[in-house]
Amino acid sequence: MIIYKSEAEIELMREAGGILAEALARLQSMARPGTTLLELDREADRFIRERGCIPGFVGYQGYRNAICTSVNDQVVHGIPTNRKLREGDLLSLDAGLIHRGFWADAGLTVGVGKISAEALRLMDVTRESLDVGIHQALAGNRIGDISAAVQEHVERAGFSVVRQFVGHGIGRDMHEDPQVPNFGIAGRGPLLKPGMVLAIEPMVNAGGPDVALLGDGWTVVTADHSLSAYFEHSVAITTDGPEILTASTKALRARP
Ligand code: MF3
Ligand code: CO
Repeated sequence: MIIYKSEAEIELMREAGGILAEALARLQSMARPGTTLLELDREADRFIRERGCIPGFVGYQGYRNAICTSVNDQVVHGIPTNRKLREGDLLSLDAGLIHRGFWADAGLTVGVGKISAEALRLMDVTRESLDVGIHQALAGNRIGDISAAVQEHVERAGFSVVRQFVGHGIGRDMHEDPQVPNFGIAGRGPLLKPGMVLAIEPMVNAGGPDVALLGDGWTVVTADHSLSAYFEHSVAITTDGPEILTASTKALRARP
């Protein structure tokens, strides 16, 4: 069942998203050689609580950290450890928070120091695929319009989209209907209407689309150990078009 949000509820989600965008910008700036994944997690937890929000990942289905940190061939849901970031690593950060009852969920991939040309292209294509997906998040379109736009952009570049994990509606719960796959057929699926809020999150592999789960029960890796990148925004469908709730001008200024 899709839960539509009122203008007042979207305003709360806009506040939630702005705080999360600031948190992610802070983490991005810390992603340098020598920083440990746990340091990023501790800072995220502190930052989110300091602003009066709840780091909602903590306790979610037994998860114990505020963020997910996925390095190189790790796709998503990597658990923060004492692992130190190294020059050339590709780090995907995923964070969520609850602000006055409403979730924001977002993430991004950042290169640590100088990264390979291939890693940079994977990052760029993945970020662009989120952009083209967001451009389809229009009232009157269907979920499949988002899915197909993401998939086409990724596959045209010679990369592949992960099938086993999908985006989702978001609101008082992190995961609400509808599912938002990163692959599909334009014109199919649930109709997009004003008041829907979607977390759109392409996960893109440099090699094949298949993934595997590590023994920790969380970390998703590429089956062929190729690099993977991921970007996510929470986006409201409005009568004026898509509104990215998890982008803030502050976050943009922090990293020109
Ligand atoms: N942000 C992820 C998603 O979009 C969920 C993270 S799993 C958690 O589904 F356990 F860390 F919360
Ligand atoms: Co999500």
